[in-house]
Amino acid sequence: MAIVPMSFILILFLSLISKGFCACSLDNININTIRSGREIQGKPEWNVTVINNCNCPQKLIKLTCKGFQTVENVNPSILSKEGDKCLLIGGNQLVRSASVKFSYAWDPAFIFWPSESSIVNC
Ligand SMILES: *[C@@H]1O[C@H](CO)[C@@H](O)[C@H](O)[C@H]1NC(C)=O
Repeated sequence: MAIVPMSFILILFLSLISKGFCACSLDNININTIRSGREIQGKPEWNVTVINNCNCPQKLIKLTCKGFQTVENVNPSILSKEGDKCLLIGGNQLVRSASVKFSYAWDPAFIFWPSESSIVNC
């Protein structure tokens, strides 16, 4: 008799947990920038790595891009400027622990911040 409410509570609990695992935010997108050591047209080159540290995939990831300039071409399929934001990998999913790398050259380094993303349920 007590089995039904118990399993109901269990399901409720599990769904809360699974929501908890997916409760990621922009804080789960980490962006590291390091100097590559190369110079392009007299500007230092920077290697940027964007990592999804959420347990679930994230898509439609956008970074703040206001004032971003580079003398090195960045492949638009990796980073495309849309006004004050840059869309990462064409809005495609970045799965858990996956990273995207790109390089640009400018002085000084540009600080990218995650600005938007959509968490994919998992
Ligand atoms: C920076 O990126 C370039 C191009 O992807 C790569 O060849 C180089 O090894 C990277 N440098 C560092 C210090 O990670």
